[in-house]
Amino acid sequence: MNDLQYEFGMVGLGVMGRNLMLNIADNDFSVIGLDLDGAKAAAVEIEAGPGKPVRGTTSTEEFIQSLRKPRAIMLLVPAGPPVDAVIKSLLPLLEPGDIVIDGGNSYFPDTERRVLELEEKEIHFFGMGISGGEQGARFGPSMMPGGNREAYERLRPVFEAVAAKVNGEPCVTFLGNGSAGNFVKMVHNGIEYGIMQLIAETYDVLRRGAGLSDDELQATFQAWNDTELQSYLIEITGEILQKQDEETGQRLVHVISDRARSKGTGKWTSQNAMDLQVPVPTIDMAVLMRDISKFKEERVEAANLLPNNRLQEAISTDHQEFIAKMRNAFYFAMISTYAQGMAQLKVASETYKYELQLQDVAKIWRGGCIIRAACLTDIRSAYEQNPSLPNLLLDSKIGGDLLDRQDDIRIIVKVAIDKGIAVPAFMSALAYFDAYRTETLPTNIIQAQRDYFGAHTYERTDKEGIFHTIWN
Ligand code: 6PG
Repeated sequence: MNDLQYEFGMVGLGVMGRNLMLNIADNDFSVIGLDLDGAKAAAVEIEAGPGKPVRGTTSTEEFIQSLRKPRAIMLLVPAGPPVDAVIKSLLPLLEPGDIVIDGGNSYFPDTERRVLELEEKEIHFFGMGISGGEQGARFGPSMMPGGNREAYERLRPVFEAVAAKVNGEPCVTFLGNGSAGNFVKMVHNGIEYGIMQLIAETYDVLRRGAGLSDDELQATFQAWNDTELQSYLIEITGEILQKQDEETGQRLVHVISDRARSKGTGKWTSQNAMDLQVPVPTIDMAVLMRDISKFKEERVEAANLLPNNRLQEAISTDHQEFIAKMRNAFYFAMISTYAQGMAQLKVASETYKYELQLQDVAKIWRGGCIIRAACLTDIRSAYEQNPSLPNLLLDSKIGGDLLDRQDDIRIIVKVAIDKGIAVPAFMSALAYFDAYRTETLPTNIIQAQRDYFGAHTYERTDKEGIFHTIWN
């Protein structure tokens, strides 16, 4: 295969890079991989097996010379300085028209900078979020590319072939300019954090609040995956709750430490939402709860000092009725989380001139990615009907679904409060809804206070202009 002009190049043959190469080859595109680690370069050829148009090399020169022009080269290396280091090593060998795609979870301002730096050399740079983990890379991820629209045509056949499919539609499409792809992936991860936290709170309320056994918990999540809650995260939670620990014989989750770690994409989503002044409270709470989980020693001390005596009180509803309410509450909170993330994408698109189509975002999130869920079909329809919809809550179908379920989320939150179980994600999802649909918020008081102590002025409801009052 040495004389072949390879269709696609991959730099970084860790498990993601390797799996994506095998996926590309399965779809009959030739692909060459570059890794300075000879063992990894050799492994990908062995894994592909004989007869596949797959090659691994440790030579940057050979790699570049073997690629069909204009070259399409994807980097799957850790975000941050490694991306810049690889670009620097490739740049002297690249030619105008070549395309470099960063497939990692890069911070979107880094992508903006790289787009401009490479543009000077007439090289197109794409930031492309890839979701779905190792299995996704191997058998069909969701891919979120942003960059130059014309250059995308060179990449489209390969990307559409390797992406996950839902009803024959590939879970990839050109999303927008500059860092649009990395931005969409960042918000994807923010929503991922929010839904994961909602699932954790659901587990807690059902277990400590309602007293469900391990078997009942597992059966509940498994059954929910056949309902409107159908989603990858609900599905894997059912499987997780089933897993036994071989050493102790109990469910593995009971021996997994409660200190949650993170790589930062959820935090970036919250930080950026603050910058854009778009509320994403459920994502904020999810980031916060991972942070509070790290204070283990302090929490143990506080648990002794401030014991929760309210857990013993039995709930008045029976298990099945309570589970049904929980299901509605979860649906409500999950949709509220999507609404927050989509609203952030809308403002970001206007601010950064991404030209995002939110119906396309919902479309490519329906398969392959971590937040894939049945409800994305409704979310897509909402934006198809009205591409400039300011917020999903304003869609009559989605808004109506939430109105129908609001009583149940209120009951669930009340039970959690009564029992001293922390459910900040549920509370924030509900408060977002309540605040968003309130015609007159009490923020008039805040404006009056600002004017009182700082002469910051205020606007009136009955006439135009800026006003200041001598308050005392
Ligand atoms: C995905 C995931 C993936 C990764 C997360 C984990 O879409 O495939 O989101 O990107 O697993 O970044 O993030 P944390 O380590 O921050 O939980």
